[in-house]
Parts: sequence; structure tokens; C-alpha cells
Amino acid sequence: MTDSRIPTVRLGDGGPVVGVQGLGCMGMSFAYGPTDLAQARATLERALELGVTLYDTADAYGDGDNERFLSPFFKAHRDEVVVATKFALAIPPDEPERRIIRNDPPYIRRAVEASLRRLDVEVIDLYYMHRRDVDVPIEETVGTMADLVREGKVKHLGLSEVTGGELRAAQAVHPVAAVQSEWSLFSRDIETGVVPAARELGVALVPYSPLGRGFLTGSFTSADKELTADDFRRQQPRFTGDNAAANAVLLEPVRAVAERHGATLGQIALAWAQQQAVVHGLTVVPIPGTRTPARVEENAAATRIVLGDDDLALLEPLAAEVSGDRYADMTFTSAGRE
Ligand SMILES: NC(=O)c1ccc[n+]([C@@H]2O[C@H](COP(=O)([O-])OP(=O)(O)OC[C@H]3O[C@@H](n4cnc5c(N)ncnc54)[C@H](OP(=O)(O)O)[C@@H]3O)[C@@H](O)[C@H]2O)c1
Repeated sequence: MTDSRIPTVRLGDGGPVVGVQGLGCMGMSFAYGPTDLAQARATLERALELGVTLYDTADAYGDGDNERFLSPFFKAHRDEVVVATKFALAIPPDEPERRIIRNDPPYIRRAVEASLRRLDVEVIDLYYMHRRDVDVPIEETVGTMADLVREGKVKHLGLSEVTGGELRAAQAVHPVAAVQSEWSLFSRDIETGVVPAARELGVALVPYSPLGRGFLTGSFTSADKELTADDFRRQQPRFTGDNAAANAVLLEPVRAVAERHGATLGQIALAWAQQQAVVHGLTVVPIPGTRTPARVEENAAATRIVLGDDDLALLEPLAAEVSGDRYADMTFTSAGRE
């Protein structure tokens, strides 16, 4: 009998072993419009059957709602899943709609206790700094995260949206298992700084939004015309107005490659992200987000697609041709500091 489960890899030296594709859980509670929670629960279970073991959340996703939603699933499968969550996006007391970045030790200590309580687990398997607060030395932030490892609250450390230099400074304090950053056919700014640093240091890359928040699947072409008023993608410059129209045209080469492989556009986007492991010589574990079992099956099946040089050549120019930034405020990203 052939094993239909996806292959496994280790995140960083001594990090957790996970399925080579993870599951982004953010959309189940936050950012992408209404969710059918029964479908979302079925998606988690189906993902696990397929060998997807890295489940990605954050305290900021729905102000703790996403961690609370995932808790029963994690408890039911505690030994089979790798629980990844994040801290750093804080809500100022008098401005519930705004987010500020906090990396200071007292904040981290409060955040980890709150995540442990909401998740209702003894230990977080992979704890990420979600965003970089440049007013706090990274050595101080990672030093506090390392204390959490020593205290048994956290097993492994991760960083999100850091520069190559920040990753090197962090790794000098404590081993980092993974860097999570946006990386897709449309978003390749991390290839100049953080990807070479991660390869050199033996740190894994966890691409977030590998489907370009759904745009690369062709499931929407204009956020302002097609998505609900509260959908986060309406705030992202590349998904609205003239930018969106120009970017939709860029999907043509993706469609051509999909036809060659008898695959969907989304599967080609995921295969491309996965294949960056070979291109750049490091471990890569994309975390596409979905809320339906059928899509998690489709996405996991992309781990079996291998793109040829001619496919990669067709896809190569796309990122440079994208109109509009990936965030309205790029100072929140590594590219804003690299
Ligand atoms: N570190 C960070 O700062 C950061 C930032 C953003 C995201 N993340 C993490 O990364 C995860 C993934 O990123 P993401 O959710 O932003 O973007 P993504 O994975 O690129 O795309 C998700 C979108 O694609 C749709 N989709 C998924 N599979 C599909 C398929 N096979 N066919 C058509 N549409 C499909 C989803 O819709 P349905 O859900 O309706 O299927 C959803 O709207 C998040 O869940 C989160 O855990 C981290």
C-alpha cells in the first residue's frame, strides 16, 4: 500500500519534524470574511490525515479567537501536531482597532502565558516573534524567548519578517528553527537578505501567504469588487483597483504551467514555493491557509508536483512585474528594513 501522507522534514538543526507543507489557520477566525466553523474543523482533521502536522496561528488572529478555536483540535491530537503561535502585535488599551509592535520582555512574558491559557497546552512547540520592534535590541527579545525554552513553556523559536542581519543576531543568542515570511510567485523580496542568511545558518523558511492570499489561485481578481467589506485584502494595494487588474494578467503564465501539469493554479504556486528548497538549498515548509477539506487535499497534492526548468523560467519574471506593495505599510516587513 502506498502512503498518501506528505513527506516530512526537520525545521532547523534540532527543530521539530513536520509535514513538508503546513496549514495556515488564520483565515478560520480572521481577515478573510465569514467562516463555516464545522468546515474549518473538518479541514483540520483532513489535513492531519494527509500528514500536515504544522499548524500556524497567532495571538493576534481575531484577538485570541483563533488560538481558542484550535485548542480542542490540538488537545485531541497533542502528540501528532506541532503547535506554532506568535506574539508581538499588541492592541493599545484605548484603540481596539489599532496594532502596535511589542518585543519587550514584560510583554513577551504576558503574551506567552495568555497563549498557553487560550490554547490550553502545557508547551508551545514553535513560538515566533511575529513582527520586529526596532526599539528593542533583538538580542534582548530572543534572550527572553530563550528563557521561555529553558522554563519549558516553549520548545523551539521562530521569527517572522526579520532581515538577514536580524536573523544572524538572533541565532547568536539561541538556535532559531524557522523564519516565517511572505514568499510566493508574487512576493520574493526575502531572497536578497533573509534566504541566504537562513541557508547559511541552517534555519528553515516557512513561506506565509504562498497562494498570494488566494489571488494566485484565480479565486478572486479584485478585492474591492468581490470581497466582503471587512476582508483584509481590500487594504492591500496589489489586490485593488488598477493594480489588481494588471496583476490578474500576470496569472497567464501560471495557467500555462498548470495546463502542462494537469494541475490548478494554486498547486503551481505551492509547487513553486516548495521547490525553492532545491533552488536555494534550504528547508522550506509553506503554510497555505484554507478552510475547506477539498482545498486542503488539493494543496497537499501539490507536494507531488515537480516543476521543470522551462516551468521555472516562465514563472521567474512575475514577481518583478507585480503592481502594488504586499502591505499598505511596508515598514512592518523585513523589506522595509533590509
Ligand atoms: N507571519 C505573518 O505575518 C503572517 C501573515 C499572513 C499569514 N500568515 C500565516 O500564513 C497562513 C497562510 O497565509 P494566508 O492565509 O494569508 O494566504 P494564502 O495561504 O496565500 O491564501 C489563503 C487564501 O487562499 C484561499 N485558498 C486556499 N487554498 C485554495 C485553493 N486550493 N483554491 C482556491 N483558493 C484557495 C483561501 O480561501 P479559503 O480559506 O476559503 O479556502 C484563502 O482565501 C495564514 O493562515 C497564517 O497562519 C502569517
